[in-house]
Amino acid sequence: MTTAEILTARLEEVRDRTLGLVAPLDDEWVGRTPDPIMSPPAWDLAHIAAYEELWLVMRLSGQQPMHPDLQATYDAFETPRAVRGEIRILDGLEAREYMDAVRQRALEVMRDADMSPDGPELTAGGFVWDMVAQHEAQHDETLLQTLQLMPPGTYSPCVGALPPGDEGLGGPDPVHIAGGSIVMGAPGGCGALDCERPAHATTVAPFRLDRNPVTIGRHLEFIRDGGYHDARLWSAEGWAWRQSEGVEAPLHWQPDGAGGWTRTWFGCSEDVDPAEILCHISFHEAEAHARWAGGRLPTEHEWEFAARRDPTSPDDAWAPWGHGPHDGRANLGQVSFRPSRAGAYPDGLAPSGCAHMMGDVWEWTSTEFDAYPGFRAFPYREYAEPFFRDGYRVLRGGSWATQSVAARATFRNWDLPQRRQVFAGMRVAWDAA
Ligand SMILES: [Fe+2]
Repeated sequence: MTTAEILTARLEEVRDRTLGLVAPLDDEWVGRTPDPIMSPPAWDLAHIAAYEELWLVMRLSGQQPMHPDLQATYDAFETPRAVRGEIRILDGLEAREYMDAVRQRALEVMRDADMSPDGPELTAGGFVWDMVAQHEAQHDETLLQTLQLMPPGTYSPCVGALPPGDEGLGGPDPVHIAGGSIVMGAPGGCGALDCERPAHATTVAPFRLDRNPVTIGRHLEFIRDGGYHDARLWSAEGWAWRQSEGVEAPLHWQPDGAGGWTRTWFGCSEDVDPAEILCHISFHEAEAHARWAGGRLPTEHEWEFAARRDPTSPDDAWAPWGHGPHDGRANLGQVSFRPSRAGAYPDGLAPSGCAHMMGDVWEWTSTEFDAYPGFRAFPYREYAEPFFRDGYRVLRGGSWATQSVAARATFRNWDLPQRRQVFAGMRVAWDAA
């Protein structure tokens, strides 16, 4: 296949996913948001098209936008989420027509593009098409967060099966990690986004890390032990948030009236499964749980070291299991609609011995989102730079809702410490001593 054919297939694969995700949703809810922290799905759809039009049509060919009057509406900074549910936006049908029309123009422009590795930086090796595919995949994950917040009865996803967990492999059983030097981040020319670059050497001190992410069962122990009511476990900011929000359990959980918990999951009520990997907790809850366990959250340096450092290989791979595809090795790709049970992917272990480092849930780290040394915003400032040093915490590893185009061990996600709609969980770290 040519580079252009590979990129076209990648763009179309992500587009099929986007349209498949919103297909079960009725027209009314395509245009409404269940929560002002999220956008109406129709806004995401037209924003996906506007971004593609900007980068794959206007920037590459000099053509004018199809809807000049809507440019500000679909600019994420000029129209923040809080107002997207209140302004006039394209409806679901109009948004899909806009997506189709832009895609046709983008593929025409692609025919004349210079993708040679030593060509212009924006198009070298197909970078900008990869960036646009990743952008759409990231919005699909955001769409899933919105769909998870929809009222019961509005959304019934088509769900794929997961491998069973293995109790013998699913325990916490901390791994000792000797530490040492690592080249953090990604080199240029490989589809990585600006905040993952530049690759830079750093060292990590010895530490211990949970072999598996924290399960629902372990978090139930934290709850039963009074973790949500013990101020000593929480930061001052976290405790103030917990009290003002009245948080007693992860998002979407409800008491079952008999001392246990159920949860609402894409509109259905179900018992919580103790073996499943914990999801929908804030950074504050993760921090309190880690302190309760006698440890702390890992830094993102420690996380990346545990996920991809391979002392037996000259180049640390992009995935914990090496360079191959994730099939059978991680719960990625928006197929399962839930995290797996701990121990479900024995073929996906990192060289460190840690499991589930990719997929299932994003993992909160203790690191505040900031630039790597030598950072250069590219190709636009607004992707990451405005969020540096502004209280956002780094999340790593992707979730079940992350597609393979955006799944790699160098990828950096970030969110505010109180956010819980993200498909996020945690694992505990301890100093080696
Ligand atoms: Fe966006």
